[in-house]
Amino acid sequence: MGKGAPIGVFDSGVGGLSVLDEIQRLLPHESLLYVADCGHIPYGEKSPAFILERSRLVAEFFRERGAKAFVIACNTATVAAVADLRQDYPDWPLVGMEPAVKPAAAATRSGVVGVLATTGTLQSAKFAALLDRFATDVRVITQPCPGLVELIETGDLASPALHTLLQGYVEPLLSAGCDTIILGCTHYPFLKPLLEQMLPPSITLIDTGAAVARQLKRLLSERDLIGTGSPEQAQFWTSGDVDHLRNILPMLWKYPGVVSSFGFVKNS
Ligand code: DGL
Repeated sequence: MGKGAPIGVFDSGVGGLSVLDEIQRLLPHESLLYVADCGHIPYGEKSPAFILERSRLVAEFFRERGAKAFVIACNTATVAAVADLRQDYPDWPLVGMEPAVKPAAAATRSGVVGVLATTGTLQSAKFAALLDRFATDVRVITQPCPGLVELIETGDLASPALHTLLQGYVEPLLSAGCDTIILGCTHYPFLKPLLEQMLPPSITLIDTGAAVARQLKRLLSERDLIGTGSPEQAQFWTSGDVDHLRNILPMLWKYPGVVSSFGFVKNS
């Protein structure tokens, strides 16, 4: 795998496009491959074993396409799969993601931090360890958000129904005195414009897309694998409805891209 090889990016659906955007901005010479497992959304309510199986399949798909690195652009899939995938492929640069507890603990002035994330992320031992490590001096209020991902997947970023659902999720955080809210699911950065309308201006929203792109750049740079030429246009695969992804992609990704069906079966 050389500098011109592509980078594989994966999420349960379109949420990881918020991370892909940061990667595109920081590493504009890279060819990007993206798999959205839309046929199995939401991961937040699935078992870790199921998510690991899907993540392994996607990893294998990217390996077959010669990807020089793999980004799990999904907090929920990271808790379920990153440790096993690192064992499966010890020499493959692999970036996972986790809710930004450390920067939020540093940023809060009220000493109360809110976390919006999926049930799977919030219930994981990995998240509990993150709190033990970085949230010793702050209070953390967690809020699972069932239903949000499903709406975002339809291309809904601002309907009254979405507004009401989101209001119900942020209200307890505000009542508890949070001044910093972590967007702990890669779908939620697409709701930033709506959240900024709903929340008082004193609230800081924090997500990890940019940090993931920086970590990817570090790993590639250490191996002298940063692309320098003209990249191929981004390629997208979905295990859900291809036409649906084609229709909503322009709302979420401002560059050209080709969408195909993901029906990969591993040959063993
Ligand atoms: N985008 C994913 C995350 O960052 C999960 C969405 C889902 O529940 O499928 O956690």
